[in-house]
Amino acid sequence: MKLMVTGGAGFIGSAVVRQAIAEGHAVVNLDALTYAACLDSLASVAGRPDYAFEQVDIRDGAALADAFARHRPDAVLHLAAESHVDRSIDGPADFIGTNITGTFTLLEAARAYWEGHGAPDAFRFVHVSTDEVFGSLGPTGAFSETTAYAPNSPYAASKAAADHLVRAWHKTYGLPVVMTNCSNNYGPFQFPEKLIPVVILTALEGAPIPVYGTGDNVRDWLHVEDHAEALLLVMQRGRVGRSYNIGGSAEARNIDLVETLCAILDRLRPGENPYSELIARVPDRPGHDHRYAIDATRIREELGWAPRHSLDSGLEQTVRWYLDNEAWWQALRDRPGVGVRLGVGT
Ligand SMILES: NC(=O)c1ccc[n+]([C@@H]2O[C@H](COP(=O)([O-])OP(=O)(O)OC[C@H]3O[C@@H](n4cnc5c(N)ncnc54)[C@H](O)[C@@H]3O)[C@@H](O)[C@H]2O)c1
Repeated sequence: MKLMVTGGAGFIGSAVVRQAIAEGHAVVNLDALTYAACLDSLASVAGRPDYAFEQVDIRDGAALADAFARHRPDAVLHLAAESHVDRSIDGPADFIGTNITGTFTLLEAARAYWEGHGAPDAFRFVHVSTDEVFGSLGPTGAFSETTAYAPNSPYAASKAAADHLVRAWHKTYGLPVVMTNCSNNYGPFQFPEKLIPVVILTALEGAPIPVYGTGDNVRDWLHVEDHAEALLLVMQRGRVGRSYNIGGSAEARNIDLVETLCAILDRLRPGENPYSELIARVPDRPGHDHRYAIDATRIREELGWAPRHSLDSGLEQTVRWYLDNEAWWQALRDRPGVGVRLGVGT
């Protein structure tokens, strides 16, 4: 298939591009190249005849129409977004602009293209969203596809709004959409201000490893390559108009995750003292959701999907990758505004 991937220079988007090419699809990657983008993550596919890059902002309807007309995709995988909760606390406007207005603009461009080509049933618009739209869980239970939306951060609220727009474009205009809500991703090529790279890189430089609040917050972790495979499966076999929750069934308290990463580093790059001695509690994020957990029964039973990485093996592979790829992350860490504490609120 010919795929249009938005946000393909980001963490998950670049994994989707690499996986799609490996599965034999052709890809055009549309990305505005914000602070979070990194074209080096696509070095393994750059220059191939089945891969193209276009610097396009999804808020720019004319540029989108032009890209649809020239590339004539069979499917859109929509990942472009402002994605960092802490940044959404400090500056929500970009999140409203890209995640809501950008998704609306992309839906309209996709609809015009799809209708202009006879509204083929086989076309797909795959919308990539997050479990954060469901809010926060207590100690038990998990989010299913029918859980009510209750977003708590500006990021989560903007993604929730986008999800509703995608659903409405299917119900009202018949656009063949499938929607996904995924848990926290980790793995190679993750931007160095997200939790797991922050822990690895601050530990390596011997600096205090920041843990928000009590460290009791629980996340359900999924390796990014498992997410990419799930998205391509949903694109090909997911039922139109349906949403699929994607998760690794790998819950961990933040503090336990940080200690696990320290233990892996103790083995792979031993220092004078255990890295866990660097762990430092810092003031919590305002509105910090306590627990997320995904019930992935639907995608498992309908589409036969299951993650291939366990959390232990995936974390070890990720730590090794950061140890082996300093040039990649150092360039991103040197970008202005990266590495400072974000999202402490007013
Ligand atoms: N990271 C996670 O744990 C996670 C979990 C579930 C869902 N998601 C969703 O997956 C998607 C990708 O997340 P990620 O972690 O790879 O994000 P990311 O921040 O690493 O990458 C986002 C990409 O989108 C691009 N982009 C931003 N604004 C744009 C615009 N206006 N026009 C075009 N491109 C633009 C950026 O340049 C960047 O390359 C997002 O929609 C996010 O909400 C992420």
